[in-house]
Amino acid sequence: MHYRALLSVIILVAPLAVSAVGTLGFCLGNMNPDGSCKTTADFAADFTAIKANTDAKVVRTYSASDQDGHPCNTPSQILPAAKAAGMQVLLGIWPDGGGYTKEKAAIDAANPASFGDSFYGITVGSEGIYRGTYTVEDLIGWIQDVRKSYPNAQIGTADTWNGWANGSMDSIITSDINLVLANGFPYWQYQAISNATESYFDAMAQALGRVQEVSKGLNKLHFINGETGWPGTGGTAAGAAIAGDDNMKTYWQSAMCGLLDWGVDIFWFEAFDEPNKPDSTGDNGQVSSEQHWGAFSSGRIAKFDLHC
Ligand SMILES: *[C@@H]1O[C@H](CO)[C@@H](O)[C@H](O)[C@H]1NC(C)=O
Ligand SMILES: *[C@@H]1O[C@H](CO)[C@@H](O)[C@H](O)[C@H]1NC(C)=O
Repeated sequence: MHYRALLSVIILVAPLAVSAVGTLGFCLGNMNPDGSCKTTADFAADFTAIKANTDAKVVRTYSASDQDGHPCNTPSQILPAAKAAGMQVLLGIWPDGGGYTKEKAAIDAANPASFGDSFYGITVGSEGIYRGTYTVEDLIGWIQDVRKSYPNAQIGTADTWNGWANGSMDSIITSDINLVLANGFPYWQYQAISNATESYFDAMAQALGRVQEVSKGLNKLHFINGETGWPGTGGTAAGAAIAGDDNMKTYWQSAMCGLLDWGVDIFWFEAFDEPNKPDSTGDNGQVSSEQHWGAFSSGRIAKFDLHC
């Protein structure tokens, strides 16, 4: 069954690969290592490092107003830096825990439409269906509300690949979105690095296949791998998945560069190590460090050659 899904994607995606390679982007935190909110100057330094070491032209953020109680006002801080650097930003709204109204207001306050191409679009929510922190109905309501304010913007949401693939997101696929961000981590599927590329391609093929089927078209929605990555040195092992910069580099070159070659746009999780980030817990209850996933150290040094 997996292979049938993969085969259909080969047929659908292969022609794209000839004419266009996917676009690389980075997931970007909005906190400095000392726990303060990033300012325009901090984001400018992020963009300088990204531009000097990678082919990426776009980043995505997760929350707009708050991070752990800090009023970060990320859209107002990051958009001027992006415009100056010639980069694009996909602005995130973190609606969990009743945060939607404040988050949306922080986006409005930045007047994103005045930043031209540097305003890539808006995502409402990240893996909240997977976590169970909001419902599909909540999400559709928020998407409609964002659409009212930004009728011509690229709007979407991010969730795990299996949520998109298994039918629980079908009514999102047919809602008023343009962007589908399907996250996929062989690491969190406890795969050895030797099987990580196969596992990743299989996951993305299943998600893309379902989106194409439900949206009744190959390109009705812009399908993006919203997050993928592998923890570097200092990270935690998860089953057969072993952390380390060598494995991160292998995963980057084989899985990530491989899927870009197939014409799929990808956001790598994440740009910079976040030494202040709390641990996260996998489906098997195991606690893992989230502090060493950066392609760059927290001091903005690339861990390896970040070109494909
Ligand atoms: C679909 O996947 C999501 C995300 O992992 C999960 O929460 C949900 O229980 C799954 N639903 C079904 C019907 O399998
Ligand atoms: C490797 O990945 C494929 C695709 O996800 C999966 O079907 C297979 O079970 C994996 N192999 C192992 C040893 O886990």
